[in-house]
Amino acid sequence: MRKKIGIVTMLFCVFSSFSYADTPQTEHGEYINWRVLGVSHRLDKKYVRSILGNDIAINAARSGKTGPWPEGTVIAKLSWKEQVHPNWPNAIVPGEFAGAEAMVKDSKKYSETGGWGFGRWEGKNLLIHDKDKASACFACHMPMQASDYVYTVPHLR
Ligand code: HEC
Repeated sequence: MRKKIGIVTMLFCVFSSFSYADTPQTEHGEYINWRVLGVSHRLDKKYVRSILGNDIAINAARSGKTGPWPEGTVIAKLSWKEQVHPNWPNAIVPGEFAGAEAMVKDSKKYSETGGWGFGRWEGKNLLIHDKDKASACFACHMPMQASDYVYTVPHLR
């Protein structure tokens, strides 16, 4: 009897892990190998986010030199629709991938938007938005002027 329950439990685990692993993936940009700056959960939009930085960003964050963030910093914000973990209803985890946005520090090139280029990855390619679209991004990052327009506070030091 014990054995039977064991097998049933095992099958259950195998099947449920299949359905969980079945979330759609896409081709990812260079950020796939970057390190973590922070995480966020947007209650209004029901997304979970992972905020990653390239080496320049990570080194600046770890040494507390983010005022301002150095030239060459790139910050990626990856979003997934939130999903309740199928085997643990109190856990919110990433569901469907919802895109990767970018902030690129180049004070000269992007002087009109606080020294930041705003863009997004389409598959492996990073596309920087034109001035109009970037201005809309920048406007909403304006309240963070004192933190060089970046919302994320690095938590791993
Ligand atoms: C309505 C306000 C709003 C707009 C518009 C907006 N952002 Fe943000 N952005 C935020 C907030 C709030 C955060 C931090 C919380 C989070 O992770 O969502 C953030 C975080 C980010 C981050 C991670 C770095 C950081 O500042 O913490 C990137 C990269 C980013 N946004 C890119 C963009 C791009 C690109 C656009 C324009 C296409 C854009 N944002 C438009 C509000 C906004």
